[in-house]
Amino acid sequence: MKILGIETSCDETSLGIINDKGDILSNLVYSQVQKHIPYGGIVPEVASREHVKAIGWVYNLALEQARTDIKDVKLIAVTQGPGLQGPLLVGISFAKGLSLALNIPFTGVNHLMGHIYSCMLDNATFKPPFLALLVTGGNTLITLVEEIFVHKLLGSTRDDAAGECLDKTARLLGLEYPGGPAIEKAALGGNASYYRLPVPLIKEDSLDFSFSGLKTAVYYLVEELKKKGKEIEVNHLAASVQEAVFSALLDRLARAQDLTGIEKIAVVGGVASNERLKYRLKEFTEKRNLMLNVPPSVLCTDNGAITAFVGLLKHRHNRIDDDIIDAQPFLTLQD
Ligand SMILES: Nc1ncnc2c1ncn2[C@@H]1O[C@H](COP(=O)(O)OP(=O)(O)OP(=O)(O)O)[C@@H](O)[C@H]1O
Ligand SMILES: [Mg+2]
Repeated sequence: MKILGIETSCDETSLGIINDKGDILSNLVYSQVQKHIPYGGIVPEVASREHVKAIGWVYNLALEQARTDIKDVKLIAVTQGPGLQGPLLVGISFAKGLSLALNIPFTGVNHLMGHIYSCMLDNATFKPPFLALLVTGGNTLITLVEEIFVHKLLGSTRDDAAGECLDKTARLLGLEYPGGPAIEKAALGGNASYYRLPVPLIKEDSLDFSFSGLKTAVYYLVEELKKKGKEIEVNHLAASVQEAVFSALLDRLARAQDLTGIEKIAVVGGVASNERLKYRLKEFTEKRNLMLNVPPSVLCTDNGAITAFVGLLKHRHNRIDDDIIDAQPFLTLQD
């Protein structure tokens, strides 16, 4: 049995094919980032149009690379949400068209589950219970995965996501889009102690996150430096922002681990491709003797293979239903 996963929730048109053991046969990702750079962020209509243009050839290439005939695909899994409405509808319409034409069932996938279970796609021996820290451009949360599809949400962001904070502060610093990788690059030559920035919610006894205050602090710092005619040391500021964001993540992870005693930690989503974060996570988990799973970058950012994998998990757990699938831009982990 082969499963085709279709992911179009944001600005990547991605189709991946896996087999029923969870081996990735192909995972094509067409990134539209170049189309959005001139706007400094994603323009939903541009993203929808790019998905329409790309999805056909990405589909053909995904089949070709997987050396698969579409007749061998027995399930189509498509991202249902959260994400941008127009882009989601492109993927869903494509999946529905294929499903009808070829008489193959299709199922909707919660994209957050795609990110969370990416740790198991990469490492089949990594099984629940585990703590998952999900850090993306749209979400930041910690959940206890007790069993497959049985989650206990421990904390989530009250405002911006960690990736969003990096993207927005990068913009303030005049760095290119997307901001996360740009901040990582700039921070390489920076001293994180040069500028003092607050670590969000550090004193609060909670497992929630908040990143909008940090963004505001960077804004006022930049304004003050400008007013005083002082040069903005972009490398130092990038390093300080990055460190403040990661300190907040590590602090919450430590609390969640204290609270649950769970010894397996997965860190997933686009921000988890950051080398500095990985270094700090390694330090943290080694100190506590915990098992750490951070999937490779290609599985951290949006891709079709993680969507296919949730399709496989739904199949294994008898969760393929005949529901009418609609785009759900605001889908949460609990839906
Ligand atoms: N090397 C990096 N360092 C820090 N952040 C990064 C890095 N690479 C990507 N990011 C950030 O990851 C985010 C994109 O990740 P991802 O594709 O998982 O999120 P999303 O799909 O936008 O959101 P969601 O999955 O919640 O809908 C962006 O905010 C981007 O800046
Ligand atoms: Mg995503």
